[in-house]
Amino acid sequence: MISPATPELPDGVTVTALRDLAVRLATAAGALVREGRPERVVVAATKSSEVDPVTVMDRASEDLLREMIAAERPDDAILGEEGDDVPGTSGLTWVLDPIDGTVNYLYGVASWAVSVAVVAGPPDPASWTVVAGCVHSIADGRTWSAGLGEGATRDGVPVRVGAPASLGTSLVGTGFGYDAGRRAEQAQVLTQVLPRIRDIRRLGSAAIDLCLLADGSLDLYYERGLNPWDMAAGAIVATEAGAVVTGLRGAPAGNAMTVAGPPDLVAQLAEILEAAGADGASSPGHG
Ligand code: IPD
Repeated sequence: MISPATPELPDGVTVTALRDLAVRLATAAGALVREGRPERVVVAATKSSEVDPVTVMDRASEDLLREMIAAERPDDAILGEEGDDVPGTSGLTWVLDPIDGTVNYLYGVASWAVSVAVVAGPPDPASWTVVAGCVHSIADGRTWSAGLGEGATRDGVPVRVGAPASLGTSLVGTGFGYDAGRRAEQAQVLTQVLPRIRDIRRLGSAAIDLCLLADGSLDLYYERGLNPWDMAAGAIVATEAGAVVTGLRGAPAGNAMTVAGPPDLVAQLAEILEAAGADGASSPGHG
């Protein structure tokens, strides 16, 4: 995958420095969440539905990220899952998911992460460019990071997407939304995908899923309904590792659909997803 041109950065700022800061932010918040995990995690509130939880640690982790950014880069904007947007003047925005995989965190299933990305341009996923990102898997400490044009690493070692022989032998990650109606549609789509692949994995953190794709632990990934903070850091890790990360019908990756993997297999999977109306667009037979 050829990286998009590096956008103009503020004077004296480099991709490498932003990537290093993303790693420091994610690992500091990860340490807070790991060390502060109580024996029994409780739900502090719910968001889009009764199965979309927020915990005390989601908020504490995001508070720490916001404090560190305010101290180190006070002119940058912030877009975080758990708080109000902070406007900036530098042209850079930090996109934060303080715990991606909150349901896993709640139950102690070991796939939850801090996801930190920094983007340039308008604070709108359709038009920004992700400059650097870090996904820190809190339970086991694995840390993926990438900078635009610099490649992607896991724990400092370069990673590349896998080279599966065919769609039929590909292991495919996906996820489901928090709304019951959306889930029913996603289950329908799955009936079209599952018979054509090796198997499905629903691991519960979109950020980690994209990083597993980047290091060859998954062959493909798709999901409808991702928010910018779920995917910004994982998407740059995946693209810098050689993946295509896209939407359907020529759209960019985003809330309607994100499909990621090696280009030829993404094209094959996208064809199935388009026919199934997996992005919510009507298609013959799936109105
Ligand atoms: C969720 C996770 C999950 C995905 C959902 C996301 P959260 O993020 O990434 O894997 O399927 O779409 O909302 O709520 O744990 O931050």
